[in-house]
Amino acid sequence: MNLYNVTFLTLLVILSLVQNIMALKCWVCCSSADPECGDPFNNSTFQLMNCHRRRLDGTEDPRPATCTKIKQTVDGKWQYIRSCGVKEQFEERTEDTVCKTRNYPGDVIVEYCSCTSRDGCND
Ligand SMILES: *[C@@H]1O[C@H](CO)[C@@H](O)[C@H](O)[C@H]1NC(C)=O
Ligand SMILES: *[C@@H]1O[C@H](CO)[C@@H](O)[C@H](O)[C@H]1NC(C)=O
Repeated sequence: MNLYNVTFLTLLVILSLVQNIMALKCWVCCSSADPECGDPFNNSTFQLMNCHRRRLDGTEDPRPATCTKIKQTVDGKWQYIRSCGVKEQFEERTEDTVCKTRNYPGDVIVEYCSCTSRDGCND
C-alpha cells in the first residue's frame, strides 16, 4: 500500500467512527396516524429510524441529533409524536431526558421532551 491509500483508509476509519458516534436512532411515529405510538409505547410494530440531519440544501446539520417525544392535547385528547430532533445550543443538560411544558390558550398543553442517551430513548 502506498501512502495515499493508507491516508485514505485512515480517513475512512475516522469518518465511520464519527458517523457511529453521531448517528442516533429514534422512534418516528404519530399516535393520530397509529394508535400504537401512544403511551405506554409498544415498539413491536415500529422500526428505529436513523436520524440523519440534512438541511434543505443537502448539507449535513452539524448539531447533534436527539430523539424527541411531543405530547399534546388536541380536542381534549392526548396525541403523541415521536421523532428526530436536533440539540439546541441553549440546552444545558444535566440529565438525559429534558422536558419543557407550555400552555397555550384554549387548554392546549404541549410537552416537549428530548433525549440522546441511547437508540430509541424516546420510547
Ligand atoms: C405489542 O403489540 C404486539 C402486536 O400488536 C402484541 O402482540 C403485544 O402483546 C403488545 N405488547 C404489549 C406489551 O402490549
Ligand atoms: C422494545 O421493547 C422491549 C420491551 O420494552 C425492549 O426489551 C426492547 O429492547 C425494545 N426494542 C428496541 C429495538 O428498543
